[in-house]
Amino acid sequence: MSLLLSPIDLGGLTIRNRLWVAPMCQYSAQDGIPNDWHHVHLAQFASGGAGVVIAEATAVTPEGRISPEDVGIWNDAQRDAWAPIAAAIRSRGAVPGIQLAHAGRKASTWSPFAGARGSVPESEGGWQTVAPSAVAFEGFADPTALDLPGIDLLVDAFAAAAVRAVHAGFALLELHAAHGYLLHQFLSPLSNLRTDEYGGSLENRARLLLRIVDAVRAAAPEAVLTVRFSATDWADGGWDAAQTATVAGWAAERGAVFFDISSGGLVAHQQIVTGPGYQVHLASEVRSASGVATGAVGEITSGPQAEAILAAGDADVILAGREWLRDPHFALRAATELGEASAVASELWPVQYQRAIPR
Ligand SMILES: Cc1cc2nc3c(=O)[nH]c(=O)nc-3n(C[C@H](O)[C@H](O)[C@H](O)COP(=O)(O)O)c2cc1C
Repeated sequence: MSLLLSPIDLGGLTIRNRLWVAPMCQYSAQDGIPNDWHHVHLAQFASGGAGVVIAEATAVTPEGRISPEDVGIWNDAQRDAWAPIAAAIRSRGAVPGIQLAHAGRKASTWSPFAGARGSVPESEGGWQTVAPSAVAFEGFADPTALDLPGIDLLVDAFAAAAVRAVHAGFALLELHAAHGYLLHQFLSPLSNLRTDEYGGSLENRARLLLRIVDAVRAAAPEAVLTVRFSATDWADGGWDAAQTATVAGWAAERGAVFFDISSGGLVAHQQIVTGPGYQVHLASEVRSASGVATGAVGEITSGPQAEAILAAGDADVILAGREWLRDPHFALRAATELGEASAVASELWPVQYQRAIPR
């Protein structure tokens, strides 16, 4: 059997394969409540054979939304709306996951379909953003620096969100510490200029993330806890793969079991070069430096390409975003591309679709 379609055990959970759906914002909610769009969008990937379907960046507080149309999990109405979505993913054989997020200084921005760019003014439904330091992302409104009570409230918000997520039926939680959002803003010396115990040394910059790992672990011990990092800022003097590996190791000691390795998003002047598998080397570096399980993501679009990454020992799991949007049955197709025996394929294919298995 291919590595891609073989099961993986993480945090006591057996996941049917190693081709997962990366979180993807839909900017399609009102009041943070997921709806019919999110239900069909996410459930189709489970029908399409995904091992884990990770729901998009889901805000732990209203101010943590990237855009006013983002989903959230800061109240019980949101939790109750997520429950049938998690159940639909699970009943199709995939593990339901959710990305818990706070956008920090990149919150309160127009959605991609709004026809405007940058920050949403408070007069039009936006809000005052927060960050480790009062330094704006280029072109966005100025954030206020979080004070110590504000940081404590944030830790509590992540823990409460984790409890709601588990009650909604999510088995895997991904803390969003990537793409220039709040937790990444604390990690990177380019955005964290604090002089207290949350800034300066690597230990201090990682303190908030590690407190959240501890708090979520304690509040939701039954969940598989994972973290998404940007393993480089693609900018001089920024966050990098070596720091990511060290902090991933610390998070693993506290009970995080998997690290989804992305990159970038912190500063507008990043020098990023994309192309097929452009972030695989980062997943590989973090995996070999710290011994943690990693996921590779970024322009991975076929079964053979994904299989080669796993066979080379660069990562334990493959995540994909846009390829699932092009083909919601990506894993079924990957099985065919890898020439899997039909016994494996037929286990993955929904019985209702099995007359379509290529023979
Ligand atoms: C429509 C869309 C929305 C996205 N939203 C999120 C998100 O909510 N959280 C996140 O960590 N990454 C987000 N991403 C990044 C993807 O998870 C993924 O890392 C990226 O698209 C690279 O993988 P790909 O080349 O397979 O698409 C988004 C990407 C797309 C295309």
